[in-house]
Amino acid sequence: MHIHRYEKIWLGIALLLIVGFIATITYGAVGAGVTMVDESGDVVNPNNISEHPEFGDPGVEQVGENEYDVHIVAQQFAFMPGTASPITVPANSTINFYVTSIDVIHGFNVVGTNANTMVIPGEVAEITVKAEEPGKYGIVCHEYCGQGHHNMAGTMEVVPQDEYNGSEQ
Ligand code: CUA
Repeated sequence: MHIHRYEKIWLGIALLLIVGFIATITYGAVGAGVTMVDESGDVVNPNNISEHPEFGDPGVEQVGENEYDVHIVAQQFAFMPGTASPITVPANSTINFYVTSIDVIHGFNVVGTNANTMVIPGEVAEITVKAEEPGKYGIVCHEYCGQGHHNMAGTMEVVPQDEYNGSEQ
């Protein structure tokens, strides 16, 4: 069968595009280091959250000299803690967020930081950020989760090291 030269060229370009698309998708999935929720996270029973050693009493816990674990339970339409009371952490520290949901899928985004994830019932989303400058940082739910979704928000308050007195919340 005879294929016209131009047709060969276009076939070649089309093949290159396909290879390019596959390479892009592969890079996005593997090379860029993008991970999905729970790839390294834990699982919890959303129906029995009060029995969980961490999520049963969520909040801030110091785990290193300048390092804090923050366990947060999301539910329609609040973060606990975060909504009723701010999450208070000291400046210049490392914050490991562990977020789970007990009802539907929520979002968790601490505005102005890299903390931005989906929160899936029964799974634990883990994100580590640096709390640097003192100030108030908004927390928003960015996954539609029901009628009160637009009101589902909270605050993280970063206070100067010398004003932080640990253990509350
Ligand atoms: Cu929770 Cu939107």
